Amino acid sequence: MINFKEEIAKEISKTVNIDEKELETYIEIPKDTKNGDYAFPCFRLAKELKKSPQLIANDIKNEVKLDNKVIEKVEVAGGYLNFYINKELMTKEVLEEIANKEEYGKAQIGNGKNIVIDYSAPNIAKPFHIGHLRSTVIGGALYNIYKYLGYNTIGINHLGDYGTQFGKLIEGYKLWGKEYEVEKDPINELTKIYIRINKLCKEDEKILEQCRMNFKLLEEGDPYCTEIWEKFRKLSLQEFQKVYDLLGSKFDSWNGEAFYSDKMPEVIQILEKTGKLIESQGAKIIDLEDKGINTPCIIEKSNGSTTYATRDLAAILYRARTYDFDKALYVVSYEQTLHFKQVFEVAKLLGIDEKYIKGLIHVPFGMVSLPTGKMSTREGNIVKLEDLLSEAIRRAKDIIEEKNPNLENKDEVAKRVGVGAVIFSDLSNNRIKDEIFDWNQILNFQGETGPYIQYTYVRTRSVLEKAGYIPSIEEIDFKQLLDEASNNIIKLIYNFQNILKQVTEKEEPSILSRYLIDLAKSFSNFYNDNKILVEDKEIQNARIYLTYSVGKVLKTGAKLLGIEMPNKM
Ligand code: ARG
Repeated sequence: MINFKEEIAKEISKTVNIDEKELETYIEIPKDTKNGDYAFPCFRLAKELKKSPQLIANDIKNEVKLDNKVIEKVEVAGGYLNFYINKELMTKEVLEEIANKEEYGKAQIGNGKNIVIDYSAPNIAKPFHIGHLRSTVIGGALYNIYKYLGYNTIGINHLGDYGTQFGKLIEGYKLWGKEYEVEKDPINELTKIYIRINKLCKEDEKILEQCRMNFKLLEEGDPYCTEIWEKFRKLSLQEFQKVYDLLGSKFDSWNGEAFYSDKMPEVIQILEKTGKLIESQGAKIIDLEDKGINTPCIIEKSNGSTTYATRDLAAILYRARTYDFDKALYVVSYEQTLHFKQVFEVAKLLGIDEKYIKGLIHVPFGMVSLPTGKMSTREGNIVKLEDLLSEAIRRAKDIIEEKNPNLENKDEVAKRVGVGAVIFSDLSNNRIKDEIFDWNQILNFQGETGPYIQYTYVRTRSVLEKAGYIPSIEEIDFKQLLDEASNNIIKLIYNFQNILKQVTEKEEPSILSRYLIDLAKSFSNFYNDNKILVEDKEIQNARIYLTYSVGKVLKTGAKLLGIEMPNKM
């Protein structure tokens, strides 16, 4: 497709003495379509050219030639130049691209670049809760989008399968394992054991000591402790898999914290050599005060066991060597902001290439709460993700029963709608925002929701079904799609790949979610303004083709977010 920004920059560069590529970065897409398709703000040039933005805009306008068939019109508005692209040309470009590309919007711009994405990462023997859902969904969407743009993407589930809590669990299991149905309902039963042993530890110092001992034994490879630990891990993973199956989540690596148990000594060695690893109350720490971080990073606890941070440092070393990453994203709640600040700062001491340090990015997200309050593991009012998803599916089924009782494959549709609603709600706003989870809102077919996008897609399908054919691109008269509603759609579709790029620049999948809402809305406007199936074949063909194109982009975009489309609903 023609790159219109590039074309505009080329024209402007003929009139001012600034590099085309640089000019291109100035160009914006105006919010209001009345201000043209693209806008060039002249404010930045004002200083350099020692003229008012308004004057610069006028000068450029007078010099820009409009005989290249791409730009139809240029207008000055304040310090802006507003450019209007030839509508017919844009329509042709977009629809031909849709016709010729199996996967619209796919790109190769990431070729040769490696992106590691650390996401999901639930903790063994603990519930997979709604916070992990956000990580799974945001990380999964980023994974898909990077991949679609040609990056070599490595998805890692950095399972919380290590740490002192396993010493406790092993102790509890030793004491009361027989009383609990761990095999049958592993996470719930292990959580009960964990709560009970924690209580006992508070009452009995000797037991606490025994728990610490267990973890040391586990780190040393003691067969008995290892066996129990493996059992917990296996049973927990089976449970997690149920959720992953519902969400369609996949990972390239399941190397969790335990994977780094034999890789930490090297980290400690390296840190020791820097002279920055200091003793403090029996523990080994790195002081970060001079880096503006008030809390030191604990590398080894006073009892000699390692920490979450040490394992993350070992993981950085390992990932740099194994994946040679350009970016390593950590999709983890903002509650861990301090942790990542510390770890990324200490990583500078590991002696790895500067490029890896620059590539470390914490991608934080806000908390999700039920209307009744924060969902916390410690307070016990946890909502299990599996239950939440089942509930979503059940509710979606109820809605379908009410609206369309004769629908085929109701269960499959309910699954797509229910799960899609949950996924979309997690992606629909800026990720850093805290969210209140509200069933009525996320399942509202008229709202800015997953089901709304699915519903719009289904509408495009039913139009095509009613028409009974999809015209070939050669049969399309692009002039039939110059009305405002059609042109809005064309502009959005044109911008699809750019949206995907923005997602990877800001690590923000909500840019794509918002886009899909805009596209769905613009289709509704088009659908309300225009009859699609009409007498005039020329008009009908063009409108059917536009409908088909909208469906294609909605489906592709939703899939990138991890949402499956139903064919009917
Ligand atoms: N298991 C951790 C948790 O549930 C998240 C791990 C995130 N990844 C990492 N490399 N630290 O809080």
